[in-house]
Amino acid sequence: MALPFFSSTSNIPDTSAVPRHIAIIMDGNGRWAKQRFMPRVMGHQRGVESVREVIKACTDMGVEYLTLFAFSSENWRRPADEVSFLMKLFLMVLEKEVSRMHQNNIRLRIIGDKSRFDDNLNRHIADAEQLTANNSGLKLTVAANYGGRWDIMQAMHALSLAHPERATAFGEEELTPYLSMHYAPEPDLFIRTGGEQRISNFLLWQLAYTELYFTDILWPAFGRAALEAAIQSYQHRERRFGRTSEQLKGTGDA
Ligand code: IPE
Ligand code: IPE
Ligand code: MG
Repeated sequence: MALPFFSSTSNIPDTSAVPRHIAIIMDGNGRWAKQRFMPRVMGHQRGVESVREVIKACTDMGVEYLTLFAFSSENWRRPADEVSFLMKLFLMVLEKEVSRMHQNNIRLRIIGDKSRFDDNLNRHIADAEQLTANNSGLKLTVAANYGGRWDIMQAMHALSLAHPERATAFGEEELTPYLSMHYAPEPDLFIRTGGEQRISNFLLWQLAYTELYFTDILWPAFGRAALEAAIQSYQHRERRFGRTSEQLKGTGDA
C-alpha cells in the first residue's frame, strides 16, 4: 500500500495558492430542472456539463485533486425511477467521457461501496480506472454510493483484519491508509452548491480542517466563474489548525 499523506492538519498549506484538493457536493439539480418546469432528471443530465466545465477549469488552474460527490449512500431512498436514471447516466458518462479524460491525462478513481452496482457498471468502472491509472494530470475522484460513515467503518474493518492481534489502541494515522482517499491529501476547499449548509455524510474524516464554502448556485448553473469565486474566498481564509493567528504571523508569543 502506498504511503499515506500526513494529515494536512499537521502543516499549514499556503492559502494564497490554488487549493491542492477541492471536494464538491454537487447539489441542486432537481430544483434547477423544476424552476424550468422540467422533470428532475433533466437537472442531472445538465449537471454533467457543469462537471465537464469544472474539470477543465481545475486542470487549467493546476488543482491537483478534484473530488465530486455524485451519489450518496442515502440517495437510494429516492424514487426508483430517479435512482435508475442516475445509474444509467453514470454508465453513459463512463462510456462517453473516459477516453477524452484519458487524452487529457486525467486519472479517474471511483470511491464508495461498489458492491451495490451491477456487473456492467462495475466493469466500466474498473476499465476506466485501469485505463487512466498511469496518468499524471488532474486526480479526479467520483464518490458514488459513498458515505463518510461507511468509509470510516470499512477502513476500521480492514485495519483490524490486518492486525488481528491488536483489537484496540490504533492511532489515527494508522487508519488513514485504509480510508478510500488514502492516496490524496485532505481537501483544502469544500464547496456545496444548491444552498444547503450540511455535509450529508460526505468525507467526514477528511473534512475535519477543510475550509467550507456554500453557494446558492444550483449545480447545473455552476461553472468556471463560480469556481473562481469559491477559490477567491478560500484565498482570504486564515487556516490555523488550532494555533493562534499571532503564531502564524510570527508575532506575539509563538
Ligand atoms: C444533486 O442534486 C444530485 C444528486 C444528489 C444525485 P439533487 O437531485 O439533490 O437536487 P435537489 O437538491 O433536489 O435540487
Ligand atoms: C448530497 O445531496 C449527495 C450528492 C450531491 C450526491 P443530497 O441532495 O442527496 O443531500 P441531502 O440529502 O439533501 O442532504
Ligand atoms: Mg439535493
